[in-house]
Amino acid sequence: MAAAAPFVLKWGVIATGYISSCFTKDLLADPKERGTTDVAHKIIAVGSRSVESAQKFIEEHAGKNSEIKAYGTYTEVYADPDVTAVYIGTPHTLHYENAKAALLAGKHVLCEKATTSNAAELRDLLALAKEEKLFFMEAMWTRFQPIAKEVKRVAEEGSLGLPVVLHADLSADFDIENKPKTHRMLDPKLGGGALLDLGPYPMIWAVLALYEHPANKKALPTTVTGSIVKTPLTGVDMNTSWTINFTETLKAQAILSASMTIPANKTGVIIRYRNGNILIQSPIYRPLSFTVQYFDKPGSGNVVREETKTFSHTGGGWYYEADEVARCIRDGKPESETWGHDKSCLLMDVFDQVRKQGGYEFPPGVEKVLPKH
Ligand SMILES: NC(=O)c1ccc[n+]([C@@H]2O[C@H](COP(=O)([O-])OP(=O)(O)OC[C@H]3O[C@@H](n4cnc5c(N)ncnc54)[C@H](OP(=O)(O)O)[C@@H]3O)[C@@H](O)[C@H]2O)c1
Repeated sequence: MAAAAPFVLKWGVIATGYISSCFTKDLLADPKERGTTDVAHKIIAVGSRSVESAQKFIEEHAGKNSEIKAYGTYTEVYADPDVTAVYIGTPHTLHYENAKAALLAGKHVLCEKATTSNAAELRDLLALAKEEKLFFMEAMWTRFQPIAKEVKRVAEEGSLGLPVVLHADLSADFDIENKPKTHRMLDPKLGGGALLDLGPYPMIWAVLALYEHPANKKALPTTVTGSIVKTPLTGVDMNTSWTINFTETLKAQAILSASMTIPANKTGVIIRYRNGNILIQSPIYRPLSFTVQYFDKPGSGNVVREETKTFSHTGGGWYYEADEVARCIRDGKPESETWGHDKSCLLMDVFDQVRKQGGYEFPPGVEKVLPKH
C-alpha cells in the first residue's frame, strides 16, 4: 500500500534578516533526511520592506525559486490567499503588530522569540488567535530538537530524584562597541539587550526541567528576582541575571543569566539533583550533547557513573519547530502541546519582572499594549 501523501504547509516569510534566512533554508531541506514523512513545507511568499530585498533573499536562501512571490510589504504576504501560515522574523518589538496583522488576515502564526515586548502584548495576541480560531506559537526551536526530548526523558525517569537547582547561561560577544546604536541588540526601540534576545534559551531549560516536571504539577514560579547591568552605549541590558523559584510544589530554583559581551561557557546548563547532575553542552540553543552524572549515594557528589549522549542533524535544526507547526495546523490544534501558550506567557511574565526590577524601560510607544498595574 502506498504511504499517504504528507500534509504540506504553505508558508509566508516576514522579514529578510538573519533568522529568516536560517528558517527558510531549513524549510527547504528534505523532510525525509530528518525522518519526517507525514508533513512537508512549501514557501509561497517572502515579504520585506523592499521588494528588492525579498527578491535577493529568494535568490540567496530559497534556491532562486521563481515560484516564490517576492513582496515589498508584509501586508501583501498576509493578504496572499495561498499562504496558510506566516513566519515572523522581525525584531521583538515589531512581533506584536506583525502577528496581529497576520492573525487578522486569517493566517496561522509562528513568531520568533522573544514573542513580544511584554506579556500584555502576548496575551492580547493569544486572545485574538483564540477568537479567530488560529494557531499561534512562539518559535522556541530548541524545545523541538530531539536532544530536548531525551533530556526530558532522563530528567523525569526517576533515577536522579527531583530537581533542586538549575544553572543556565547564554552569552555571546556581540562586539557592541563596534555596532551602530541602531543595531537591534542595542536599540531600546527594538527591544535591544541580552534579556529578550538570549534570555529565552536559559528559560527553555528551566521550563523543561522544573516547570514541566510532573512533580511541579504545572505550578507557576513563586518568585522572580532579577538584576541588570546596562550598557552606557544605549542603556539596554548588557549583562543580566535572574533567579526563579518553583516552591509551590517542587522546592527548586533556576539561576539564569545572559550576557552580550562575553562568550558562552562550554557547559551551558547544569541541572542538579541529590542523585546526580545533567550537564548540557553549549550552544544551549542547539546543543549536540549532554552528560548525565550519577552519584554513589544521594547527596554525596561522588560521581560513579557518567553517560554522554550525542546527537547530530543536517541543516540548522529549525525544521523541527516547523514540523510541529504543520502537524498542529493539520490536526486543527490551537497551540502546541510541547511549547504551549502557558510557557510563552511564563517567559514574558518573567522578562517583564526582570526588566522592572533592573530598571529597563522601553521608550514610550514601544509597548503597544501596556501592562496593567
Ligand atoms: N531562533 C533563533 O535562533 C534566533 C536567532 C536570532 C534571532 N532571533 C530572533 O529573530 C528576530 C530577528 O532577529 P535577526 O537576527 O534575524 O535580526 P536581523 O538580522 O536584524 O533581521 C531583522 C529583519 O527584520 C526586518 N525589520 C523590519 N523593521 C525593522 C527595523 N525597524 N529594524 C530592523 N529590522 C527590521 C528587516 O527585514 P526587511 O528589511 O526584509 O523588512 C530585518 O532584516 C529577533 O526577535 C530575534 O530575537 C531568533
